[in-house]
Amino acid sequence: MIAPAPAAKAASPERYPHRDLLGIEGLTAEQIAYLLDKSETYVAQNRQVDKRSAILRGRTLVNLFFESSTRTRTSFELAGKRLGADVINMSAEGSSIKKGETLIDTAMTLNAMHPDVLVVRHQESGAVALLSKKVSCAVINAGDGSHEHPTQALLDAVTIRRRKGKIRGLLVAICGDILHSRVARSNIQLLNIMGARVRVIAPPTLIPAGASQMGVEVHHDMRKGLAGCDVVMMLRLQSERMQGSFVPSVSEYFHFYGLDYEKLEYAKPDAMVMHPGPMNRGVEIDTEIADDISRSAIAEQVEMGVAVRMAVLDALSERLPNFVPGNGN
Ligand code: CP
Repeated sequence: MIAPAPAAKAASPERYPHRDLLGIEGLTAEQIAYLLDKSETYVAQNRQVDKRSAILRGRTLVNLFFESSTRTRTSFELAGKRLGADVINMSAEGSSIKKGETLIDTAMTLNAMHPDVLVVRHQESGAVALLSKKVSCAVINAGDGSHEHPTQALLDAVTIRRRKGKIRGLLVAICGDILHSRVARSNIQLLNIMGARVRVIAPPTLIPAGASQMGVEVHHDMRKGLAGCDVVMMLRLQSERMQGSFVPSVSEYFHFYGLDYEKLEYAKPDAMVMHPGPMNRGVEIDTEIADDISRSAIAEQVEMGVAVRMAVLDALSERLPNFVPGNGN
């Protein structure tokens, strides 16, 4: 295991000069490095018996999820609670959205209750940025359509940096349903900003138009695309976003694009395997590779998710209203 990065410096609005986290787009390499360094302190804190601190004491965090989630929602709840905030979880199911209330009316209703942070997942690209303009609290994008999932890219970056000791200069393959993936979009941007080289590997039907302008090499052959890679990031086929047929059959997809040991041989011998989850075993990834802790970093990704979300909340905290430095809030 590579030694962790140096301890994060004290929070500073200059080092993270934004009210919100809406995407990786708009962040600098310094701001990303600041969040990654700060995450390391929370990795250590989360491995202690007492995982709490008081940075968000008295604050209220609302998780507002219009789409299903296990990892993101749970880790934001844990992150908020470990930092001392009151956390409310709200989903579309069981809310007045089911009676026809709009996204914006829902957001403004919640805003009237003076939350400090809204964490929002929505099925439409751009919905979280739109909502952020209507509220006075900090907003974190927990995934909007196929647009961005910034905290996923940050947690992936922490995981890579801990295993490989760096990001700059690495060759990273992102494989599978690039077209529908907000994880791919956020990761491509972050990895480019931080100096990695990125390949995307997928059938032509699952590559977005203009992909080559995103700063990536495009491959349709898995073996050629994986050649010499340091990191292999697998993505789920997002059938919930597909209208029509994008692959001939699941078994054919696995044959050509599923990660098994034979294809992984083409990457570097120490290549690490990642998946943001939820994964479909036997569709995009062989079940043995997914569970092979000498190659797979999937469980670490989940662990880093809590630390990264604590770091993001910490970084946002100094721009919250009535912040008093050193007062534990
Ligand atoms: N990776 C991810 O966003 O997982 P969830 O959908 O479970 O939150």
